[in-house]
Formats: sequence, C-alpha cells, structure tokens
Amino acid sequence: MNILVTGGAGFIGSHTLVELYKAGHTAVVVDNLSNSNPTALRRVAEIIGVAEIPFYKTDIRDREGLERVFAEHKLDACIHFAGLKAVGESVEKPWEYYENNIGGTLTLVDVMRRHGCKNIIFSSSATVYGDPVEIPITEMCPKGQCTNPYGWTKSMLEQVLMDIQKADREWNVVLLRYFNPVGAHPSGRIGENPNGIPNNLMPYITQVAVGKRKELGVFGNDYPTPDGTGVRDYIHVVDLAAAHVAALKRFLKPENGEYGTATEPSAANIHSTSNPHLSIYNIGTGHGYSVLDMVKAFVRVNAVDVPYSIKPRRAGDIATCYCNPAKAKAELGWEARYDIDDMVRDSWNWQKNNPEGYPEV
Ligand code: NAD
Ligand code: UFG
Repeated sequence: MNILVTGGAGFIGSHTLVELYKAGHTAVVVDNLSNSNPTALRRVAEIIGVAEIPFYKTDIRDREGLERVFAEHKLDACIHFAGLKAVGESVEKPWEYYENNIGGTLTLVDVMRRHGCKNIIFSSSATVYGDPVEIPITEMCPKGQCTNPYGWTKSMLEQVLMDIQKADREWNVVLLRYFNPVGAHPSGRIGENPNGIPNNLMPYITQVAVGKRKELGVFGNDYPTPDGTGVRDYIHVVDLAAAHVAALKRFLKPENGEYGTATEPSAANIHSTSNPHLSIYNIGTGHGYSVLDMVKAFVRVNAVDVPYSIKPRRAGDIATCYCNPAKAKAELGWEARYDIDDMVRDSWNWQKNNPEGYPEV
C-alpha cells in the first residue's frame, strides 16, 4: 500500500517508515517539523536504502497543503501520528493542544474522505484509560478521566473517529493505544530527540548517562508497587512500529485484494467490538517494570552510571499501568519481540552516538 504518514519525521513515525518499507509498502510524509528534524527522514532513507522518502513540510491544519498531497499521490491509507504530545505543556496551553490535535485531525479526515481514502490508523494512548479499573488493561476496560488536555485530545479523537466510522461504513478505523514507547532503531541512526528537558523517563535516563543532566529524579517511592516506584509497560519503538504494519491488514479485503474493507474478526476476537471496520488494540508488551527496574537494567546492560534521587510524586501519575496485549496477537498476529535489555541497550546506543540529538538544520 501507499501510506500517508502524518508526523513521519517524529520519533514513532520515523521508525514506522522503516518497518513499512521493509514490509514492501511505500509512504508519503506530511510533517510541519514543529517537533522534529528532517535529518530523521534522510536517515530513514539511508536505513532502507532508498534515495528519499516523499516529504511535504505541511501542517495538517493546512487544507490546501493536504489537497496538494492527495492530488499528487494515490494514497490507500493514513497512519496519523501528527500531534502535540507534551503532557505538562498541554496543561499550560490547552487551546493550542485542542486546536492542533483535534482541529488538525478534523481537517485531515475531511481531505481524506474527499479523496476517497477512508482507512486510518490513529495514535492513541493508554492515557485514555485514566486510572484504569483493571490491571492488566484489556480493550474492554472503560475509558477514564484524563488528567490533562493532551490526554483528552486522544480520548476525544477516538470518539470523533468512531462517530465518523458509524456514519459512513466505508471508513476503516484502527485505534492503537500505545503504552510507553522507548528504545531506538538498532542502527543508532534514528531515535527520540526531545526538545529541552525530557518529560519522559527513558530520555531523562539517557541524558543523565551521557552527562547532560546531573541526576534522575525518581517521582515517588511510596506507590503500592513492589519497590514503591511507578510501574509502566515499556515497549520498544521498533515493536510499536511493526504493530502499525500489522494493523494495515484491517484494511484488506481478502477476496478481491481491494482496500477498504476489513477482514471479519476471527473466533479469537476477544475484547472486541462487533464492528469489523472499527478496531481498538492495546500496544504494549504486557509486562510492567518499575522506574528502578528500568534504571537498574540500564546500568547493568550498558555498564554506565545513572545517579538518581527520590523526589515527590509527580501530579497526575498513576501507580501501575500495563496491558494485556492478547487481542493484537490474536487479530493482527503481532506481539512484541524486544525485551527490557534490548530497550535500554538501543536507547543508549542512540544517545551515545547522537549526544546532541539530530544536527541543527
Ligand atoms: P513526535 O513529537 O516525535 O512526533 C509527532 C510529529 O508530528 C512531529 O514530527 C511533529 O513535528 C508533527 N506534528 C505535530 N503537529 C503537527 C501538525 N499540526 N501538522 C503536521 N505535523 C505535526 O511524537 P511521537 O512520540 O513520535 O508520537 C507520535 C504520536 O503518538 C503522537 O500523536 C503522540 O501523541 C502519540 N503517542 C506518543 C506516545 C509517546 O510516549 N511517545 C505515547 C502515546 C501516544
Ligand atoms: N518518571 C520519573 N522521573 C522522570 C520521568 C518519569 O520517575 O524524570 C517516572 C514517572 O513518574 C512514571 C514513569 O517514570 O512512573 C514513566 O513516566 P513517563 O513520563 O515516561 O511516562 P508516563 O507513563 O507518565 O506517560 C507516557 C506518555 C504519555 C502517555 C502515557 C500513557 O508520556 O504521553 O504514557 O500512555 F499518555
């Protein structure tokens, strides 16, 4: 398939491009580069051995810009990563988050339908479960209260896409709820490139290890978890990328090979809606690791020091969050292959080879 990848220059998008091309697909990238660097796309091209990836420096809120992309390419589906994602910033700038993430997606989806492209994979998040009522979390777990505008944009956009699919059955919608993506491509050429002080655990750890920051603050050691620190379902970004490729099969109609109709769910369709054109998957490993588990694995595997100290809890954090990924395995044939040692090794490989991230352009 030829896939429109919005946000393709970003962390998850760039890794997904590699897996798409490896699986024989092609892509067109739309990104406004508000949180990314075009070097990532050049390095993706180098990894997969193509001259370049078709790229438009375009905002998804720019209707005319998107029209041009669709006029110039025949696109079968969209993998929609573009969005702002900093939890803390979203509390400071709610209007900007709603306008960018929700406004942008509404424009994107409208242009897609005008061009008859009605297959979309959307980057959702475990954050839609709020403080989950069950652990491990299955897709049947009810959505919860988000603690920040970023989370609400994900929760609301899930609803928007579900309603659009309900009104027009030609749409095929796949909502992927990511748990905690970490790691980097094993080549060390692409990886996570946060601006300023990292919010997330793994980039903070790697920046301490490389000497850019003095020590890691561990946010709370009095949670009801085995060692008192927060437990999450970390997933290697290459595994996460592969889940998108696996999810594309929801757009295939096996009888005639045309795109546009998802396969019927199998008998193994657990935790499912009965609508074959709308699917939701948890994308995680199913294992929960604490903050200190991650720090210790990082130090052990990479033989580097990561000084840390215990700090107060961070507002909005929950104690434990990990999933049951059985549905993605049963219906998409996807499961995570990389373990915690691979995650910390590849995160460090990226950081030590690119201590300043991508070069300024
Ligand atoms: P990222 O910031 O690296 O990538 C997002 C990309 O979207 C960036 O390249 C940015 O420049 C682009 N972008 C933002 N707004 C845009 C707009 N209006 N028009 C065009 N391009 C725009 O983030 P990521 O970690 O790769 O995340 C990808 C997606 O997955 C996001 O939607 C994010 O919310 C979601 N997600 C991420 C995580 C995570 O922990 N990384 C977890 C759950 C969900
Ligand atoms: N943590 C620290 N110190 C840090 C950073 C994080 O101790 O400097 C701890 C947190 O308290 C938490 C764990 O490490 O216990 C993971 O924190 P992250 O910020 O890396 O990830 P979160 O689980 O808080 O949030 C992530 C994404 C969100 C997404 C959410 C649910 O950042 O976008 O997962 O999917 F919404």
